Amino acid sequence: MISIPKTQFSDLSLVRQGKVRDIFDTGESLLMVTTDRLSAFDVVLPDTIPDKGKVLNQISVFWFKKMESIVKNHIITTNVNDYPEEFKPHADVLNKRSMLVKKAVPLPIECIVRGYITGSGWSSYQKEGHVCGITLPKGLKESDKLETPLFTPSSKAEVGDHDINISFEEAVKLIGLEKSEKLRDLSLAIYKKGAEYALSKGIIIADTKFEFGMLDKEIILIDEILTPDSSRFWPLSDYEPGRTQNSFDKQYVRDWLTASGWNKKSPGPKLPKEVIERTSNTYKEIYTRLTGENV
Ligand SMILES: Nc1ncnc2c1ncn2[C@@H]1O[C@H](COP(=O)(O)OP(=O)(O)OP(=O)(O)O)[C@@H](O)[C@H]1O
Ligand SMILES: [Mg+2]
Repeated sequence: MISIPKTQFSDLSLVRQGKVRDIFDTGESLLMVTTDRLSAFDVVLPDTIPDKGKVLNQISVFWFKKMESIVKNHIITTNVNDYPEEFKPHADVLNKRSMLVKKAVPLPIECIVRGYITGSGWSSYQKEGHVCGITLPKGLKESDKLETPLFTPSSKAEVGDHDINISFEEAVKLIGLEKSEKLRDLSLAIYKKGAEYALSKGIIIADTKFEFGMLDKEIILIDEILTPDSSRFWPLSDYEPGRTQNSFDKQYVRDWLTASGWNKKSPGPKLPKEVIERTSNTYKEIYTRLTGENV
């Protein structure tokens, strides 16, 4: 089993390293590699979770295909044999955890859809009775399902890591009315289809974030979609409104980290073997539940 903290291809040009993904520029296209890094409480931990990157990459691939009837996406190929020559020596590492994608011009808003009230949405509802300017009925409990999912865009923060929620009108100022309406309609349609499917497999997708880009004047779906990194996944079997829900993928790690007394500042602590194994298995279980296949 190969577990990778980062891709160390001295011969290739890394253009970006996110918390979890490494991105290479091939000129025409981008190669997105999902590593086994794990971030918890916004800190990348020193350990890696075997196969996590494969699971996340394959989940995105699964959804991109499923959503093709709604929107085009950036995938060129996931077959390592069809990658540019320079990647072929690294085929073993790249297999299943990477995709070659079309280089699009990312639109400067993050398309967030919320099907349940939680996180920052729950905080602002408690204080002000609305979420990103959308007024909601009185008496909602934490983690309640919303009557209809909400589209709550945010602007991509240039510096620092926190995106800023914006109203629909502000999105229109940034990218125009036509594109804003299109992104809203696409985001809601993809969320609806994905959330219904996941629910039938015992997974609640409480909320999620999509990114779109322009390619030859056409809007396409880019980045990752409906993964546990871009969404909140909750196990349906534990779901109970009125409290914070367990995270399907990270709860065990979070509980262990909290109990360890760590101050949640970088660097994070090393994890016991048992926590690593259990977390790896949880990611694989999510993949199998969603797709009916093993990683
Ligand atoms: N097809 C594409 N064309 C151009 N840019 C893309 C494409 N797909 C994704 N991107 C961009 O690549 C970047 C992916 O970054 P990544 O998710 O690894 O790190 P991050 O978002 O900065 O941090 P985090 O680790 O918190 O997710 C995003 O800026 C996204 O807009
Ligand atoms: Mg990202």
